[in-house]
Amino acid sequence: MRRLSDGAFHSGQDLACEFGLSRASVFNILGQAEKMGLCIHAVPGRGYRLPGRIDWLDCADILKQLGDEAGRFDVRVLDSVDSTNSALMKAALEGAPNGTVIAAEHQFAGRGRRGRTWHATPGGSLTFSVLWRFDGGLQAIAGLSLAVGLAIARVVNRRSAHAAQLKWPNDLIVGYRKLAGVLIEVQGDLDGPSFAVVGVGLNVRLRDAQREGIDQAVIDLDEMGVAIDRNQLLADSLREMRVVVDAFGRQGFAAVRDDWCALDAYAGRPVSLELPGSPSVHGVAAGVDDNGAFLLRGADGALHAYHGGEISLRLKAAR
Ligand code: BTN
Repeated sequence: MRRLSDGAFHSGQDLACEFGLSRASVFNILGQAEKMGLCIHAVPGRGYRLPGRIDWLDCADILKQLGDEAGRFDVRVLDSVDSTNSALMKAALEGAPNGTVIAAEHQFAGRGRRGRTWHATPGGSLTFSVLWRFDGGLQAIAGLSLAVGLAIARVVNRRSAHAAQLKWPNDLIVGYRKLAGVLIEVQGDLDGPSFAVVGVGLNVRLRDAQREGIDQAVIDLDEMGVAIDRNQLLADSLREMRVVVDAFGRQGFAAVRDDWCALDAYAGRPVSLELPGSPSVHGVAAGVDDNGAFLLRGADGALHAYHGGEISLRLKAAR
């Protein structure tokens, strides 16, 4: 696919020779790429190409864009993996260091929150996971996923005319359409060493077929008029995550709570919270507390705090 994105047509025969494959294998690979969501332009007598250039992920380029911060990260770029979170969780359990990053062009079992699938097309999304290790026990990680959402929002908002906002716990939304999501998986002792695998999926250029497979309103950077090379976007995200995670390590989520609240898209709006295994609760969104718990003002005027990645927040339709 890298070869086909150079703007020129390549015949099946040339591709077969270049990669030491049979023409049937080339044909199969093209079919697989289409199944992954890539649109291949095939012209009889000329060959195949991808209609547009793709800024493929490239480890050397990411490290270059990281500049002084490159030494803080161990970046691995994969063409295809089940899920960058799953791969990084395995690496973490085998002792991978703080700051290990796995980014992939394609995930064949990408995971979202609440058991959902995360859809991404090669070249059309940014999908990566970062390993952060902490000393203060699992409790110290409360609110980390919100802080990561904030970091990604800052990166986008430096370049976007349409402000990305936050939806508790960690969605990035623009006009109530989802731009990015964060999936955090943690392991460790209650009060000893612990770690978090922080996975980020960000829509860069969604294909129509991909949009049709997603059961919620979505938006991508392309539609927002944000043109940024994905290697740069990944480097900027890592740098900003490092800033936020450092602050978080010193003071917990309280360090960034005000900044998070300044981008809260739901503050003051009537909402309902869908709680796993319990009836939904209704009220007015009232921001988040110092641990990142969602605050709901009930009909009685009292504030109630809700934690947990399994909760789903919905705007209540105006009557
Ligand atoms: C959500 O909003 O539901 C969270 C989506 C998180 C998706 C990312 S893509 C990189 C990492 N690997 C995964 O399998 N999931 C996360």
